[in-house]
Amino acid sequence: MDIKKILTEIIVSSVNDSSVTEELVQSLIAVPPDEKLGDFSLPCFKLIKGRNPKEVAESLKTAIEESEFKQFFSEIRVVGAYLNFYLNRMIISKTVIQEILIQRENYGRSEEGAGKKVIVEYSSPNIAKPFHIGHLCSTAIGNSLSRIYDFLGYDVVRINHIGDWGTQFGKLISAYKRWGDRETIEKDPINELLKIYVKFHSEAKEDPALEDEARQNFKLLEEGDPEVTALWKFFVEVSLKEFNRMYDLLDIHFDSFAGESFYSDKMPEIVDILGKKGLLEESDGAKVVRFEDKNMPPCIILKSDGSTIYATRDIAAALYRKRHYDFYKNIYVVGTPQALHFKQVFTVLKMMGFDWADDCEHVGFGYVRFPDRVLSTRNGDVVLLEDVLNESIAKTKEIITESGTASQIDNIDEAANTIGIGAVLFEFQKNGRERDIVFELSKMLDFEGESGPYVQYTYARGRSVLRKAFEMGISYKNVKLELLTDDQEYQIVKILMKLQSVVRDAASKNEPYIVTRYIIELCKAFNKFYNSTNVLKSDEDIRAARLCFIEAVTVCIKEALNLIGVGVVEKM
Ligand code: ARG
Repeated sequence: MDIKKILTEIIVSSVNDSSVTEELVQSLIAVPPDEKLGDFSLPCFKLIKGRNPKEVAESLKTAIEESEFKQFFSEIRVVGAYLNFYLNRMIISKTVIQEILIQRENYGRSEEGAGKKVIVEYSSPNIAKPFHIGHLCSTAIGNSLSRIYDFLGYDVVRINHIGDWGTQFGKLISAYKRWGDRETIEKDPINELLKIYVKFHSEAKEDPALEDEARQNFKLLEEGDPEVTALWKFFVEVSLKEFNRMYDLLDIHFDSFAGESFYSDKMPEIVDILGKKGLLEESDGAKVVRFEDKNMPPCIILKSDGSTIYATRDIAAALYRKRHYDFYKNIYVVGTPQALHFKQVFTVLKMMGFDWADDCEHVGFGYVRFPDRVLSTRNGDVVLLEDVLNESIAKTKEIITESGTASQIDNIDEAANTIGIGAVLFEFQKNGRERDIVFELSKMLDFEGESGPYVQYTYARGRSVLRKAFEMGISYKNVKLELLTDDQEYQIVKILMKLQSVVRDAASKNEPYIVTRYIIELCKAFNKFYNSTNVLKSDEDIRAARLCFIEAVTVCIKEALNLIGVGVVEKM
């Protein structure tokens, strides 16, 4: 149940004015700084212009009091131009906890996105190059956005736009023909392919003819030459095998792996449309689109040798996606350094006459910084995702093995996996995505800080009380949930109640950290309650109610963590 949503609906239908939309009302309903002013308050003077706000407040008060939802309010007060709402704690607690325990992992889900397709493109690593930490960032955020939109009922299409096309493949083919060895590569594909790619660059410095040969090879690839195509396929296959191992480890999946090569035969149409619209201009032998906005450099469509580039493929991909999926939204989760690229692509689409370009959105994220390491692929000095994950898993295992609870954990490796990976994913989604991330293992694994392990531990604590209660044979017949009215419990009920609106907010801003913050808020409040309340020693009636309450809290923690791709463990 989302009382804010219920209130919004009553207000919108009662005011009956086209300028008063649900979004407006949702944004106006606020939580007053002091509880004495109510659980929610609405500044009626901001609602409709030109009407006496006090009168508006009075008429809304009457509308709510005459609605079927009046039982949820203990009082509604008109104070000046404000309408203050006081909830009926007993009924709210009872309704919310009951709803969670009945709906379980479906609690808070909505159908508001039904029939609307949202494409979330994420991860998108490059063939024959390491899956680096920036790709993990995209993978983590994209996975969460997919889950968030799915939770709201949208029809989500998860696309991995693999970087499997471009002049670098010409270089790789040249390198392979010189120094490649199939067997060595099969054993450790990405590292070995990277090695010969790096060697190509250093050799080409001495011998510039290599670059021409590489260009020629890419041309052959674009023309479908069987020999180079077979080599290219081999690089793709061995790389994907490694990426898939990573996705399995992270439990992250895709509906489509249509990468850049998928659009190689769809580019002539783009060049054709641009040509017919008179948008292509010559520039040093290349064909480019220039923009009215003089601050935006032209977008190269065809290089001087006639081959297409990254941007052309993105333009073709967007058009294909519109035709094939008829998306409502087309989201690209890619680092902010590519912001200009996407701006160019979307602008070109608009100039081509595709108004749906406005439904395409680049969802960027900041740099990942390692206090003492740098990221780059040219010289082979990269921070690899797998190293980071393995380090985190190993460190977690160390921590739990040394802790007093190790003997209770059924499968330490499994727990270390869930906690270690969860810690990394959590860290990436703790702050607004455009902020840089400083990656420090010790902070990420701090069980007392705002970390993945901290919230997983909170969940496990709740589960452990429930297990103890079960062992004590506590009965749950005729539970009086309306007893859950003390301040701490009620604060938590209010947090549980807002799950859906938090998820909606996260979707509207494409910001998974809004869900992460929610989880931290819930866990902090729950730990405070847990530390000050001896649940198992409470009187029988309140004990049963509190156990149901704890169960509801654990359901919500698990559910919200699932939205950001993080798992839970029953014991830790
Ligand atoms: N493969 C690219 C990279 O690693 C990211 C692709 C982003 N997606 C896109 N549609 N351009 O930088």
